[in-house]
Amino acid sequence: MGLLALLGMEAWILGSFICYVLPSLFLLLVVLLRLYGEGSNIWSLQSCAVDLTGKTAVVTGANSGIGKAVSCELARRGARVVLACRRLTEGQKAVADIQKTTGSKELLLRELNLSSMASIQSFSQKLLQEEPHIHLLVNNAGVAGMPCILTSEGLELTFMTNYLGHFLLTNLLLKGLLGAGSARVVNVSSYRHKYGFVNEQHLVGAGDPLRKYQNYDCSKLLLILFTEELAQRLQGTGVTVNSVEPGIVKTEIMKNCIWLYRSIFWLLSVFFKTPEQGAVPVLYLSFAEELDGISGKYFNSKCNLTLPSEPARDLEVAHSLWNTSARLTNLEKITERE
Ligand SMILES: NC(=O)c1ccc[n+]([C@@H]2O[C@H](COP(=O)([O-])OP(=O)(O)OC[C@H]3O[C@@H](n4cnc5c(N)ncnc54)[C@H](OP(=O)(O)O)[C@@H]3O)[C@@H](O)[C@H]2O)c1
Ligand SMILES: *[C@@H]1O[C@H](CO)[C@@H](O)[C@H](O)[C@H]1NC(C)=O
Ligand SMILES: *[C@@H]1O[C@H](CO)[C@@H](O)[C@H](O)[C@H]1NC(C)=O
Ligand SMILES: *[C@@H]1O[C@H](CO)[C@@H](O)[C@H](O)[C@H]1NC(C)=O
Repeated sequence: MGLLALLGMEAWILGSFICYVLPSLFLLLVVLLRLYGEGSNIWSLQSCAVDLTGKTAVVTGANSGIGKAVSCELARRGARVVLACRRLTEGQKAVADIQKTTGSKELLLRELNLSSMASIQSFSQKLLQEEPHIHLLVNNAGVAGMPCILTSEGLELTFMTNYLGHFLLTNLLLKGLLGAGSARVVNVSSYRHKYGFVNEQHLVGAGDPLRKYQNYDCSKLLLILFTEELAQRLQGTGVTVNSVEPGIVKTEIMKNCIWLYRSIFWLLSVFFKTPEQGAVPVLYLSFAEELDGISGKYFNSKCNLTLPSEPARDLEVAHSLWNTSARLTNLEKITERE
């Protein structure tokens, strides 16, 4: 009898432990991580008073996740925001949402598919006619979870979308950036660049074999290398370029991955940043006054200047990558024609 009562007691303790104590501990952990983990930036968006009235900003991949949150804050501060999206129907929804939140009447939706050189050319050409001065370009669009496949233009899809497309776009919009007198380019990279390596052959779907989804990691590494080379080329022009990692953010970024990865991401996502929190480091690079004149640098998700991985700092590699990228995108021919 005594033993049974004891067992009952233990079951009760175990039961309440599972029902109340564990969830409470879990919740506490979530709150602490939200407060002190990813969320704690060394820069505060709220206390930054910069007004962007009269400035034009271009955000790629603006219909979802970080790009949408960035566009919303830029609009709130008075900027004219060009939302560059590959699916206009989705872009239209984002425009409506941002309009509702900010009351902005300066939102322009334009079609841009970064997987396609033809689309990038046509977007840039039209945009420069409409907006001869561009004060901010946020290279945010990205895909993850795609297999290695070639586009109809013979380029590897993930490398094209995340890196080479932004290489071409930035170069084609350079006239507008230079015309603005002072302008910034922000490349949204990822901490994942540390798991990548450089092999220029990857751009055309050849080169050393990659692990599953490593095309994403490598493409983000190339983006950083480019930031450095471009910064050198633009020294003294008033245009600065930097790259940043947003942290781990609950967005649509995993939508192309296998269900197992998506489930793990979803389960863990209570610990992740919201898109608004993930946008903060990007916004810091976009308009914080203390970054005036700073170029070619890499910032972590807490807005702190950091060194990227070693291969991301090799200036010779960056230079050679520029040459290859210019050749693959026909950059010289396109810019000559214009
Ligand atoms: N979430 C994270 O934890 C995390 C971490 C590190 C870095 N990042 C980077 O942050 C950036 C934003 O991603 P996110 O997390 O906000 O994910 P997201 O919600 O999936 O947003 C990605 C955006 O890029 C667009 N995009 C994809 N392919 C495109 C193409 N070919 N042409 C034009 N736009 C294209 C998407 O458009 P559709 O809606 O049409 O697909 C979408 O608007 C990416 O560069 C990503 O690599 C994210
Ligand atoms: C974007 O371009 C790629 C490569 O040309 C193409 O496969 C894809 O269908 C295009 N996507 C959209 C939404 O236009
Ligand atoms: C920012 O980086 C500096 C060194 O570069 C370091 O001393 C400082 O602790 C960092 N701050 C945060 C909040 O991580
Ligand atoms: C890059 O190309 C230029 C000419 O287009 C050439 O002079 C230079 O040597 C090349 N650099 C590298 C690292 O290949």
